[in-house]
Amino acid sequence: MNFKDYVRVIPDFPQPGIRFKDITTLLKDGPAYRAAIDEIRKLVAHHQIDLIAGPEARGFVIGAPLAYALGVGFVPIRKSGKLPGETIEADYALEYGKDKLSMHKDAIAPGQKVLIADDLLATGGTIQTSINLVRQLGGDVIGAAFLIELSYLQGRDKLDGLDVVSLIQY
Ligand code: PRP
Repeated sequence: MNFKDYVRVIPDFPQPGIRFKDITTLLKDGPAYRAAIDEIRKLVAHHQIDLIAGPEARGFVIGAPLAYALGVGFVPIRKSGKLPGETIEADYALEYGKDKLSMHKDAIAPGQKVLIADDLLATGGTIQTSINLVRQLGGDVIGAAFLIELSYLQGRDKLDGLDVVSLIQY
């Protein structure tokens, strides 16, 4: 399946000059969505994984079904102020804008092997911050998996030493 055919590119969203990769066109196609998750699962199947962690919001749409497919748990990495329990937080910069990410302090037991999953790797800021949060909790980050990688932004370079996999590259 050519997954790129299912992604809609929208010019000048959310700012002039940005060519937004809209995955809603892939997600609404049941066979394409299922096949995409299954392909990502195959790319990470050689790892021993205890938990998937995914950043809000689109990371949930990839991370949760991937966790289900692997039969492991999912922990959300949320924007600030959303999680009800005790949290840790970290600032991060986005391709456009900035925000704060948070995790529950008890989301991960020390030594658990964690794969981070998201829809898109752009500058790598979101994933770098996610990795820092997971490591602060004692998690062992074994890799990161994406539906889409914007190779020209070289986000991968920020994730030194990790297994980084993506299904679609631009
Ligand atoms: C988007 C995307 C990734 C991140 C990638 O999320 O889903 O999480 O940006 O960019 P980066 O590699 O430059 O950090 P966004 O913050 O727009 O949030 P959303 O998923 O809630 O739309």
